[in-house]
Amino acid sequence: MTATLGEPVEGPHAWARSWLPADDDPVRPLMTLATLGLDGWPAARTVLLSSVSDVGLRFHTDARSAKVAELAADPRVSLVIAFPERAQQLVVQGDAVPESAAESLAAFGRRSAYLRQLAWVNDPEHARLPPADRQRAWATAVAQTPDGPLEPPTSWRGYEVVPHRYVFWEGGPDAASRRTEYVRADGGWSVDHLPG
Ligand SMILES: Cc1cc2nc3c(=O)[nH]c(=O)nc-3n(C[C@H](O)[C@H](O)[C@H](O)COP(=O)(O)O)c2cc1C
Repeated sequence: MTATLGEPVEGPHAWARSWLPADDDPVRPLMTLATLGLDGWPAARTVLLSSVSDVGLRFHTDARSAKVAELAADPRVSLVIAFPERAQQLVVQGDAVPESAAESLAAFGRRSAYLRQLAWVNDPEHARLPPADRQRAWATAVAQTPDGPLEPPTSWRGYEVVPHRYVFWEGGPDAASRRTEYVRADGGWSVDHLPG
């Protein structure tokens, strides 16, 4: 199987990158992140794409979340990013590898003030408070750091999804949708086309 015309010669990661916004673009794509649930059920939720490195896609989360326990047990994940306005979908399967402390710190600095505040406030005890208490706690936190905290809480975690498989779905009104699938093989990639 060989790559067809129009696909970037640099391989699937460069192609994926060309579909994704630059790291300093404040509008971050939403990804469905699927993990292997500890109870055996597939577990999926939405996370923001934080950035794209030379080897993978990064997201950030809280150490107390279910996904972190699931990733400790098994790092295999799927990511789905849909671009309905462009009739495109990117699916990635890979291992979620914890990023370094320096990378996590830098990523925290790129988050909006709201999201930096959220990382500090949104713990399990806070979630169980009645609405008025939650609003009061939020207002107190914002009053203390109006521009958002600069340092991440100790529960801040970052992961890099190192892809094993990419699937590029492309639709459009003038041709049938199809997928281009890349799977890691022998130090390179095998490539195939699949129906949409
Ligand atoms: C639009 C949107 C963006 C979100 N972004 C993140 C994110 O970047 N990181 C995160 O941990 N949770 C994010 N969440 C919350 C997750 O979907 C999820 O509820 C939370 O992380 C707990 O997931 P878990 O218990 O399955 O680990 C986001 C939710 C929405 C609706």
